[in-house]
Amino acid sequence: MNQNLTQKIIAAHLVEGDMQPGNEVAIKIDQTLTQDATGTMAYLQWEAIGLPRVKTELSVSYVDHNTLQMGFRNPDDHRYLRSVAAKYGIVFSPPGTGICHQLHLENFAIPGKTLIGSDSHTPTAGGIGSLSMGAGGLSVALAMAGEPYTITMPKVFKIRLEGQLTGFASAKDVILHLLGILSVKGGVGAVMEYHGPGVATLSVPERATITNMGAELGATASIFPSDEQTRAFLALMGREKDFTPLAADEGAAYDREIVIDLSSLAPLAAQPHMPDRVVPVAELDGMNVDQVAIGSCTNSSYSDLQSVAQILKHEHIAPNTDLLLSPGSKQVLKMLMSEGLLDLILDAGGRLMECSCGPCIGMGGSPSSGGVSARTFNRNFEGRSGTQDGQVYLVSPITAAFCALNGKFTDPATWTKTVSKPSLPATAPSIRHLFAFPPEDGGEVEILRGPNIVPLSPFDRLPDVLELPVVIKVGDNITTDHIMPAGAAITALRSNIPAISRHVFERVDKDFVTRAEAAGQGLILGGDNYGQGSSREHAALAPRHLGVRVVLTKSFARIHKANLINFGILPLMLANEADYDSLAQGDVLRIELGALAPGATLLASTSEGRQLTLTHDLTGNEIAIIKAGGLLNYVNDRQK
Ligand code: F3S
Repeated sequence: MNQNLTQKIIAAHLVEGDMQPGNEVAIKIDQTLTQDATGTMAYLQWEAIGLPRVKTELSVSYVDHNTLQMGFRNPDDHRYLRSVAAKYGIVFSPPGTGICHQLHLENFAIPGKTLIGSDSHTPTAGGIGSLSMGAGGLSVALAMAGEPYTITMPKVFKIRLEGQLTGFASAKDVILHLLGILSVKGGVGAVMEYHGPGVATLSVPERATITNMGAELGATASIFPSDEQTRAFLALMGREKDFTPLAADEGAAYDREIVIDLSSLAPLAAQPHMPDRVVPVAELDGMNVDQVAIGSCTNSSYSDLQSVAQILKHEHIAPNTDLLLSPGSKQVLKMLMSEGLLDLILDAGGRLMECSCGPCIGMGGSPSSGGVSARTFNRNFEGRSGTQDGQVYLVSPITAAFCALNGKFTDPATWTKTVSKPSLPATAPSIRHLFAFPPEDGGEVEILRGPNIVPLSPFDRLPDVLELPVVIKVGDNITTDHIMPAGAAITALRSNIPAISRHVFERVDKDFVTRAEAAGQGLILGGDNYGQGSSREHAALAPRHLGVRVVLTKSFARIHKANLINFGILPLMLANEADYDSLAQGDVLRIELGALAPGATLLASTSEGRQLTLTHDLTGNEIAIIKAGGLLNYVNDRQK
């Protein structure tokens, strides 16, 4: 059968499953990446599995998010990540080296390989033909243990590119245009696969801008074929040996086709506060711009910044604006320096920031109150910039540079500078020596933890009988925010489960933690749709730390139920919903677990001798995970 490129890569990595869209497939993962904000928990989970060395072909730990000094926590995180990397065979990228996705593209991504990363913009590496997906920290830890990654077999959309970019239109405008067509939900459950004669006109960094923002479409991944452009980029990076040509078969089938004529595109902008609120820049003509920020994993390549330098050459930015520049990597920065391009930007009034995420997550460079910020980034959600009422517009580097020059949005028809077509530089200096490659044998390496990094306590296995007090009774539609509140002060404790656990249910019942601790182990009684909202793992992990073994409800939200299973908490439902009213906080339930099997009901009795029937919809595999005490124990058992 003729296969599209996505199907080819999945078929080459298939461990289990039938490749029909909507079915679950388990695939082998070749590479993983983490960044520091999610990496500490991923590596704590990895440590809990207990293996001596990662089993992937390559795993890289990047530090790019929290690079600024904010007390002891960030440097402690960096030190922990560095020591874990050395011990377990992971490449470590120190703070300041660059942004994970830009660095991965330049140094490690390989056409045809599978990559998962604990960052939602991991699909950036699709620009080089790698099937790359964002994943949770636990999935990354399991992939490092050699476990397959399970996904729903995606649909595949064919995005046919015709013609070539002209005038001031750039790769960013291609993906903004697609966001305008599909919206932020339009790619859910699908891979965007790029095709057509326009593909050959785009360099790998331009392709990576497009695949990066596939995440904003909600897509599972985005991918370009691997062709002569890919070879040229890999050769420039000193990695031509990693090149393999890859393309879909002639006549391969797709679930949907969208045609984009590149030559018809004009500069676009996504308005606050959604990446799909796309309008032509011409419509914003005259709007003052207080700040311009150029960089992020979307638009921080050499060619991006080269076009900025061309526009700012021998000019000065408008006095009412501020221009921030965060190169994507030290390689990009060195190329800008050696070609005199950095000087052009600095002389025009630009400010050089670290090679890191920086303003993308409000790390330096937040806009002023109510200020308009034109950014080359990928997200403009309210408050993300660090300023709650900041008005963030997502634009290309070319549009951003004209905003800086004019201090306002102007109609591209009035732009007079010449910007050459983005090109790769003649040579690129290697920065591979800046990575810490792990020693052959990490046995002697000591893991360095600060006080905020606490190993996960071992999870005990499920006994045959549980006798549990109801430690809290809550109503319908409890969200993961009710269970594990967010907020900067609490999320700073993400690598310290004992500390973050002290906040469980604090906004529902401030005595919950004390009561749960006194009980030693317990049961949460919930209503309908328990655990709706965000997918945060801590909403299962922290209650488990407090001794919660069972959550008994009328019904569950799907993702939270999966997290409960992963951390060894048994999700049960009342066969008779009226029993919910008869139970109260403090009641003790004795649950016989000998009969726990797919489709079977369980019996529980109260201390007064009342019998309750409990149901579940667990598979045999999920029951095995819970019996082992959670997925980490389960994998550890399997690996032995
Ligand atoms: Fe960093 Fe922003 Fe990308 S936080 S990884 S630059 S989306």
